[in-house]
Amino acid sequence: MSGNTIALVTGANKGIGHEVARGLAATGATVLVGARDPRRGAEAAEKLVAEGFSAVPVELDVTDRVSVSAVAARIDREYGKLDILVNNAGILLERGQAPSQVPVELLVRTYTTNVFGVVEVTNGLLPLIRRAPAGRIVNLSSGLGSLTLTSDPEHRYGQFPLLAYNSSKSALNAVTVSYASELRSTPIKVNAADPGYCATDLNGHSGPRTPAQGAIAAVRLATLPADGPTGGFFSEDGPEPW
Ligand SMILES: NC(=O)c1ccc[n+]([C@@H]2O[C@H](COP(=O)([O-])OP(=O)(O)OC[C@H]3O[C@@H](n4cnc5c(N)ncnc54)[C@H](OP(=O)(O)O)[C@@H]3O)[C@@H](O)[C@H]2O)c1
Repeated sequence: MSGNTIALVTGANKGIGHEVARGLAATGATVLVGARDPRRGAEAAEKLVAEGFSAVPVELDVTDRVSVSAVAARIDREYGKLDILVNNAGILLERGQAPSQVPVELLVRTYTTNVFGVVEVTNGLLPLIRRAPAGRIVNLSSGLGSLTLTSDPEHRYGQFPLLAYNSSKSALNAVTVSYASELRSTPIKVNAADPGYCATDLNGHSGPRTPAQGAIAAVRLATLPADGPTGGFFSEDGPEPW
């Protein structure tokens, strides 16, 4: 990677996304620090710059088509291409309700960010990714999106039946496979990353892993060599079951 490599991470102002941004910046890439709040984005980018990295704040709300178009126009104008897109922004709105108690409205809000937001951002930026020599798209999924793991009552993920969140990440896995199929004849690789259970604001800092550990799989997938996989689902330990 060189400073000529341009990477965009959505929701990079904190948590796993911020660590993905740091990890990509450490490879020498110029990282566009996506954040829906410009102040939080500027502070997050400043931190990386203070560490000697190349980082630029970019205001981006993944649920807002106008915001996505503005970012695409800006990247086109300033860089002319995008090498790496990490769709990290995500929300978890459930607070322990049983599946049958979750209102449809909560599913709609969850999917609007976790699924439709990824599609909006990917479609908006794909023309720029096609211009890069070896585009990489990474979607931040979850072990809770794995039907194999969540349907196993013996597995700890079988104890977390989060109707909206889990199904949004299963849908995101399907979205990942669809894009990988469409782009298979191009150099672009599209994969889903499972960061593991990390302590962040998303889960009230209950996870045993650090956000930096959570970033490892995504950074690896974002920097895959030409003979790397596409259309897969990976944790830092290797393939995850769908
Ligand atoms: N933590 C875990 O254990 C875990 C496990 C598996 C998967 N994941 C996934 O990893 C990703 C990062 O999660 P995290 O744990 O780091 O959560 P987090 O600390 O809550 O960070 C989420 C980030 O997404 C941003 N975001 C939310 N909605 C957005 C929108 N509409 N537009 C732009 N940015 C938006 C947030 O911005 P604001 O600061 O403005 O809210 C924040 O920067 C998510 O996709 C999550 O589902 C996390």
